[in-house]
Amino acid sequence: MAGIGTETAFEAAARARALEAEGRDIIHLEIGEPDFDTPANIRAAAKKALDDGWTHYGPALGLPVLREAIAEDATARKGFRAEPANVVVTPGAKPIMFFAILALVEPGDEVIYPDPGFPIYESMTRYVGGVPVPINLREENDFRFDPAEVAAATNERTKLIIFNSPHNPTGGVLTPADVEALAEIGRRHPNVTFLADEIYGRIVYDGEHVSIAALPGMAERTIVLDGFSKTFAMTGWRLGYAIVPSWLVETYSKLIINSVSCTSSFSQVAAAEALRGPQQSVDAMVEEFRTRRELIVEGLNRIPGITCRMPHGAFYVFPNVAGTGISNNELADKLLYDGGVCVLSGSAFGQHCRDHVRISYANSQANLRRALERIEEVVAGLPAAAPA
Ligand SMILES: Cc1ncc(COP(=O)(O)O)c(C=O)c1O
Repeated sequence: MAGIGTETAFEAAARARALEAEGRDIIHLEIGEPDFDTPANIRAAAKKALDDGWTHYGPALGLPVLREAIAEDATARKGFRAEPANVVVTPGAKPIMFFAILALVEPGDEVIYPDPGFPIYESMTRYVGGVPVPINLREENDFRFDPAEVAAATNERTKLIIFNSPHNPTGGVLTPADVEALAEIGRRHPNVTFLADEIYGRIVYDGEHVSIAALPGMAERTIVLDGFSKTFAMTGWRLGYAIVPSWLVETYSKLIINSVSCTSSFSQVAAAEALRGPQQSVDAMVEEFRTRRELIVEGLNRIPGITCRMPHGAFYVFPNVAGTGISNNELADKLLYDGGVCVLSGSAFGQHCRDHVRISYANSQANLRRALERIEEVVAGLPAAAPA
């Protein structure tokens, strides 16, 4: 257990809730979950599924109805032909990465992943004795997962290349040319498997989401991770999935049987409705996020000491706070304890993030405005941020 890490968002949320229990008013901008309710048609489908008796164990890899719906949806949206037999359903998308790393990475194997990035990639790699190989996403490079750097870091010990687009925590989106360049690295290194984390694939504002699995030869070597948490505001339902190469299906089946047996049956029936039913709620949610993105980026850029790039996807901004004169950890603490705004220090996302904090704008416009006022007030009170 010495190597395993954590996801700080859950700890920060617990600290914020403890303050709330003492009567403090806290604006939550830490956790990565849509503030919207799960759309009504999906909730209704779950209630009906319960009444219809979907309350028993199901097949380890998922109910046929959902695996078919996922394969149809992936074929329509991701640009490659996905078969139901290659679909794996899990309780949340996290087990997809957990099982992939557990199954594929032997002690000493190298795993390439973005830094900053979702903390579980590094945590799980260390846990199984693998060697984490972070690719530094630089702000001046628009936080790009630079294929040239990935190519330079890939060698015969590389087992897995993990990437995430749209990206948590920066909101970056890979361009089609980047994805093609990553596929080219795969072609030069036949032992490498890709883990493409596409959980924010439908939350894109500029450009388009491209799946590496759509490129020639890539579906056979890519685990395409996706899920219901973000797209359909279903974080608490715990529903994720992947489209995996045929040679990995049995591996997933065994790991699922050894750990969770299967995913909740009535939730899966509702998830099929999420994919096959009306999609207006998803579109409306993305449009609302787009408005909030502009609100938060403009607001942050007005605060002396803070600069913020415009993200292209997901619902996070990753502002540079070096100009405030204190570290990102100190600023996150001050914002919480003095300002009542809970954000995450960039340090929660890797070694290379001393200048940034992550703000989730999955909160109402009114709360974002209030949060901006409070952040401005806290920063104005810092000695280094006073106007020269
Ligand atoms: C990049 C990324 N991948 C995967 C997940 C996991 O999603 P789930 O809640 O479905 O397990 C998250 C959740 O925050 C995420 O940000």
